[in-house]
Formats: sequence, structure tokens, C-alpha cells
Amino acid sequence: MKIFLDTANIEHIRHGVRLGVVTGVTTNPSLVSREGKVNYRKLVQKICSIVSGPVSTEVLGQDVQTMVAEAREIAKWAENIVVKIPASLEGVEATSVLASENIKVNFTLCFTLNQALLGAAAGATFISPFVGRLDDIGEDGMKVVADIVEYLDYYQLPTQVIAASIRHPQHCLMAAKVGAHIATMPYEVLLQMIRHPLTDIGIERFRDDWKKVMAREKLL
Ligand code: E4P
Repeated sequence: MKIFLDTANIEHIRHGVRLGVVTGVTTNPSLVSREGKVNYRKLVQKICSIVSGPVSTEVLGQDVQTMVAEAREIAKWAENIVVKIPASLEGVEATSVLASENIKVNFTLCFTLNQALLGAAAGATFISPFVGRLDDIGEDGMKVVADIVEYLDYYQLPTQVIAASIRHPQHCLMAAKVGAHIATMPYEVLLQMIRHPLTDIGIERFRDDWKKVMAREKLL
């Protein structure tokens, strides 16, 4: 499973890339607004220059024409750009148009297998089921991811699943277990994935014991 960061924060993205594990980024208007006063296009282009893999950014229009026009513009921003189109009826049509022009679409705000089915049929490169938001309303977000993965696999469709709206490391584990191609996660979740108290205690203990060995060597 590939790891993407769900953020528009340059420092966090740089760190993820330095770690050698982050291969893509997803952004949305809420994430960009957290970065304060920024030029949207320049920020996204900067992200695209840091990460070699796909960088998803969202259209804001709601009708087909506006979405397609926005997406065509955004697609010119960088080689690795992917346009996020919402899983609405208009979004399905816009995805079909864009896919026929070889513009990569991340079919986003997906909450059901039926939505995913239409997104894949329309030619979306990625489909993003929002796990956390489904869990928030008492549904099983990961079940939707599992169903979509199974469906795409069964029919051998090329669309890839991005498990999105990831809230904690357990979500990452589950996404990997059900075969999601990608998990896009907040930076904090990426950091949490590596943490374990026994690792910290172990490092500390080895360091202390090594100091003892060194101290004894000096006495020889
Ligand atoms: C994915 O592409 C979205 O940007 C994101 O995962 C949404 O997550 P949230 O539900 O935490 O806002």
C-alpha cells in the first residue's frame, strides 16, 4: 500500500518525502485554508515539485461545465497533478469528459460502492472513500473501502482506491489489510505509525548499556 499525505503543509510534505515513504499528496480546500494566506496555484505547484507522485487538488465548481473548465486549467499546473472531482451526478459526467482527455481524476467524497462503481465506469484514475467521515455517522467506513477494492479486483479495473479521511494508525492497518492501493493520511498519523513505547524503552536501554561497556573499556 502506498502512503500519501493528506495535507497542504510544505514542511510536513518535505519531511514525509525525506523519510522516503511518502509518494503522493492529497489536498482539499479545507487543508489549503489551514496554511493561511497563500496563493493556491503556487502552493499546489510547489507541492508538485517536492513529490514525484500524484498530487490531488480539488475543483470548486458544481456544474459539469465549470468543473471541466477548472480541471483543464488545473491539469496544466504540473505533470503529476490529479484533479479531484466530487462523487455527484455532475461529477460523473465531468469525470467521463476529463478521462477522455487523459486528465487524471480522483473521484472524491465517495461514501458508497455505487458511487465508486460509477466513478470507475467514468474512467477515474483514483477513487477516494472517506473512512473517518463514515465512521463519524456510525457507518463502517473500512467496509466500503473493502467492497470497492473487491469490486475493482473482480472486474480487473485499473482504478486505484485511496483510503481517505484516515483518523488514526488503526485505519492505516485496516486499509492495508483490505487491499487499498493507497492510504492518504494526516502528518500526525504518519508519525504515530512508527511510535511504540517499547521501541523507545529499548533504544534507551541499549544506549545505557553501551555507555557501561564504554566506561568499562576505559578502565582496562
Ligand atoms: C482526501 O482526499 C481528503 O482530503 C481527506 O482525507 C478528508 O479527510 P477529513 O474527513 O479528515 O477531512
